[in-house]
Amino acid sequence: MKTIIEPFKIKVVEPIRMTTREQREKILVAASHNLFQVRADDILLDLLTDSGTGAMSAEQWAGIMRGDESYAGGRSYARFEESVRSITGFRNVIPTHQGRAAERILFSTVVKPGNVVPNNTHFDTTRANVEMAGGRAVDLPCPEARTPALIHPFKGNMDLGALERLIDEVGPESIPLCMITVTNNSSGGQPVSLDNVRRAREILAPHRIPLYLDACRFAENSFFVREREEGQAARSIRDIARELFSLADGCTMSAKKDGLANIGGFLATNDDDLARRERDLLVLTEGFPTYGGLAGRDLEAVAIGLQEVLDEDYLTYRIASVRYLGEHLAREGVPIVQPPGGHAVYLDARAALPHLPPEQLPGVALANGLYLHAGVRSVEIGTLMFGRMDAAGRTITAENELVRLTIPRRVYTQSHIDYLVEAILEVFQERGSLRGLQIVEQAPVLRHFTAKLRPIG
Ligand code: F0G
Repeated sequence: MKTIIEPFKIKVVEPIRMTTREQREKILVAASHNLFQVRADDILLDLLTDSGTGAMSAEQWAGIMRGDESYAGGRSYARFEESVRSITGFRNVIPTHQGRAAERILFSTVVKPGNVVPNNTHFDTTRANVEMAGGRAVDLPCPEARTPALIHPFKGNMDLGALERLIDEVGPESIPLCMITVTNNSSGGQPVSLDNVRRAREILAPHRIPLYLDACRFAENSFFVREREEGQAARSIRDIARELFSLADGCTMSAKKDGLANIGGFLATNDDDLARRERDLLVLTEGFPTYGGLAGRDLEAVAIGLQEVLDEDYLTYRIASVRYLGEHLAREGVPIVQPPGGHAVYLDARAALPHLPPEQLPGVALANGLYLHAGVRSVEIGTLMFGRMDAAGRTITAENELVRLTIPRRVYTQSHIDYLVEAILEVFQERGSLRGLQIVEQAPVLRHFTAKLRPIG
């Protein structure tokens, strides 16, 4: 059978609002042509992010009621710790309110000014937290990651030759840790192979450089390993995930992704002395070590979500649904980052809109076109997000102009995906009429959230 069905039925529904094109035109003008400024109620399908936007299960909602709100030593923490340990094997489990809090605590504990932190590709908060601690964040994606249209099974891999050269160049004493992000969000939600992680470990171990996973999408990554890596086909996803974590010395995690929760995260390590220092900082800014800035009920939701995400039927459906979207678009000639990722399909706006130079923000033009046509919110990952101004006021453009269609977990049905395919194909047909944009007003940092824009011409 070919039809993809959701391996769940729906108990609670949340209405979404249809709007007319005329209404959307007014909404977009009021938002200064920036989709971050549009109210969620004015959106039909919201594909801005897969972070914290998933639907919880009946079991997770039951867990919410069981939550123990004791300040210290709560029952919910014990469940959370046990759940994280059963999957990752790490001894010290430090709860945080989300991924970036785990990053801040980790980097401000281990990174000294002038240090260097390699990663296959840093997520933007990860990079910012390394830099805030005085470190230099270095991205070492494999060369295949640079070509959007290229199909390769593990485009999320780290460039191991570049890692060896970096260690030679700056010296192992300048590298407090190396990170690998699974899946590699910034390069298209692409997976990392077990072999790549193992070999990174072999390079780092003689220098005593710890290896950390940014584990936000560990279950999706493990699914791809089983599907694509030699010798992995017969293993369970849980077993593969366990091996993935066993290769690392610790991890940071945003439970808003593969924790299937709306909030939460953690930092984990086998290093007891480091964990003690991290907990000292946690108490200062997040909370006592048995709740870390979360309510007891949130700890329950994460504890349950982490187990549910490893369900084979769920992952089969999840990956198939995202792939269906990507492959359908690609078959019709829409340029995407190949192959489709685990949590998102990325449209290649530079290839789709060759009439717009990067300075005219083709990714924003495409995302806004899709909103106007169908009420879908996507997110530009290109020059608005990553471009900068040089001293002379000229735009330094991003490496790629992408539009991310990020699929929340267990939220939209296959008919929503079919609607999305239709909408994108229709916008693609009319792509010649999409106009570029110019920035009218911008903040000095993270400008994409608040920039005011104007269509050109
Ligand atoms: N690492 C990766 C790879 C991420 O994708 C994110 C968040 C974080 C760390 C930070 O976690 O949001 O819980 O603090 N990514 C979201 C996104 C926001 O839209 O891709 P957080």
